Amino acid sequence: GKAGYDHFMAKEINEQPRSLRQGLSERVDELAGEVDIGDLAYLNPRGVQLVACGTSYHAAVYGAQLFRDAGVPAQAFLAHEYASAPPPVGDDLVIGVTQSGETADTLSALRAARSKGATTLAVTNVVASTAARECDHVFYIKAGPEIGVAATKTFASQLTALNLLATGMVPTKDDRESIAALRDLPADVQEVLDESQAEAVAETYLDSDAYFFLGRGLQYPVALEGALKMKEITYKHAEGFAAGELKHGPLALVTANTPVFAMVTGDGEQARKTIGNVKEVEARDAPVVAVTDGQSDVERYADHVLSVPESPPRTAAVLTNVQLQLAAYHTAAKLGRPIDKPRNLAKSVTVE
Ligand code: M6R
Repeated sequence: GKAGYDHFMAKEINEQPRSLRQGLSERVDELAGEVDIGDLAYLNPRGVQLVACGTSYHAAVYGAQLFRDAGVPAQAFLAHEYASAPPPVGDDLVIGVTQSGETADTLSALRAARSKGATTLAVTNVVASTAARECDHVFYIKAGPEIGVAATKTFASQLTALNLLATGMVPTKDDRESIAALRDLPADVQEVLDESQAEAVAETYLDSDAYFFLGRGLQYPVALEGALKMKEITYKHAEGFAAGELKHGPLALVTANTPVFAMVTGDGEQARKTIGNVKEVEARDAPVVAVTDGQSDVERYADHVLSVPESPPRTAAVLTNVQLQLAAYHTAAKLGRPIDKPRNLAKSVTVE
């Protein structure tokens, strides 16, 4: 059942500390400063392609960046656009990111990759799903069953699984910090859940014309996912943008009636640049909701702040996303939408 929540989506959002703990258990050796992904650690890919759809594609965009950061050429593809991807060669690894393991577009991209000789890996939630059975390797995200059509806890678990895989396959000098952050992640997510002001933000902006989401680097896929969640359960117009893309077009849409959620964590170059974009929307009178760990001065330009604990970039993306899940959920609840079964959508899309 819904464990006392009004919707499965609320239950699943609130379950994330536990689902993440489950996905991390026995996979992190903090003393050694290592992760344990079993034999997958020896795959040693020359290049990585990730194929996925929807929310899982957003996780794939994040995963591709982790591999690139570690020096392995990597790219995410929408599974239904994979036909135009450069064909995988020799030691390339093709990762299918699919919660259900049954998405037809993703399965056919994986089959195409396999037929060209690539090694395939399924990152999935469902044991013995078609993707799990057909790929050379499988890595389970262990999020537990997800009933709500809108993917929530499985997205957090996909990000975390890709974090483990990238760290385990291509160790780098920054690993110790990000591995330590994995230990704290379930408690950090709990802190976001306990202290979130997202319901008040949802109430304030219920009558908006559109909702925009800005993120840079690992916060870019979070912006995409925040917008997808908002549109699918509220039926309101929402778009996620790479923060730097704003003035190349989307800024024309920004008005006093389009709240802009800006994800700004850390106090480095990326935060500084995104704050520059925040100033651009503020100058057009758009309400700004800063999703931030408070390390930068973005709060000075924000109408509302959704706080997250400080965490390195990889785990910070999981934390900011929880605030966006809550913002979408509370907006949809206040609008009286059928949250667990949005119109026209199915949990698993088994036709191309
Ligand atoms: O089962 P999959 O992860 O392959 O599903 C892919 C998409 O259909 C899915 O992520 C969809 O975008 C979400 N349910 C939206 O919340």
